[in-house]
Amino acid sequence: MQTNKITSLFNIKYPLIQAGMIWASGWKLASAVSNAGGLGIIGAGSMYPEVLREHIVKCKKATSFPFAVNVPMLYPNLEEIMEIIIEEGVEIVFTSAGNPKTYTSILKEKGIKVVHVVSSVKFALKAEAAGVDAVVTEGFEAGGHNGREETTTFTLIPMVKEKLQIPLIAAGGIATGRGMLAAMILGADAVQIGSRFVASPEASSHQNFKDLVVKAQEGETQLTLKELAPVRLLKNKFFNDVMELYTTQPTKEDLIGLLGRARAKKGMFEGDLEEGELEIGQISGLINEIKPAAEIVKEIITEFQEVQKEIISF
Ligand SMILES: Cc1cc2nc3c(=O)[nH]c(=O)nc-3n(C[C@H](O)[C@H](O)[C@H](O)COP(=O)(O)O)c2cc1C
Repeated sequence: MQTNKITSLFNIKYPLIQAGMIWASGWKLASAVSNAGGLGIIGAGSMYPEVLREHIVKCKKATSFPFAVNVPMLYPNLEEIMEIIIEEGVEIVFTSAGNPKTYTSILKEKGIKVVHVVSSVKFALKAEAAGVDAVVTEGFEAGGHNGREETTTFTLIPMVKEKLQIPLIAAGGIATGRGMLAAMILGADAVQIGSRFVASPEASSHQNFKDLVVKAQEGETQLTLKELAPVRLLKNKFFNDVMELYTTQPTKEDLIGLLGRARAKKGMFEGDLEEGELEIGQISGLINEIKPAAEIVKEIITEFQEVQKEIISF
């Protein structure tokens, strides 16, 4: 593969980025993906500041290739987290769920490359104006927290591409080489893949959750809790409890009350498939096997290259 805007920006071999994911992407997954030629990301959203420092230190030991840290800006300890990132010499930061203006210039002054995750053209333009190096455009299909507008990956990529000068990384519903090629034909310079990497031994998620992701079929996830922070969940008992509460026209406080604390940890990290919150994308219906991260990267790139030849030859 030749270089493009994203491989040159991050100094990586393939324009394939493993998404930052709470309770899934620690140093083991991030370093495995970076060693395989992609860009691995440590998900800081589920880590106390000192835990994050530990993951960064271990990741630096486990790979000599670039890696990044994802910081969802809605969590507490933001200032401390950014200080650790700067102190530990992290070279690339992906921010999400917040205003890109807050930290972009501070990080860039330290020579850090900054990418912001968006789910609409409006927010992509705001991120560009804030001075980020690239944006991740995340479609409605994606696992985890998501946009309210429900814009799909297939429509979001060309709409953002038309308006933005900076590189674009597509996310949401991509798990194969064909998906990656489709996103790049639509105008993406790289892809960010989340759900596929949950089903890997290196992901820190609980085995119960990984097994359920592999079993999941089409139609078994849904975007919900829009009044709080829209999130795509696997339909389990907790999800059904949320649906039942909706039939009573709940207030925001009622929803917060049901959600409680540490639901995501309970489901994805502790493996409570009934009471926990299970975040995964629509593409889980296509994920049938737990595989080492390096194999996932290899499989995606090989399929990308083969299909590219098929298309060119017809
Ligand atoms: C289990 C899980 C946890 C996630 N946690 C985060 C997070 O902490 N920060 C973030 O910006 N996005 C998070 N996401 C979204 C991913 O970064 C990524 O954009 C998304 O998974 C891409 O869509 P896909 O799942 O269809 O590949 C999460 C996704 C999943 C599946």
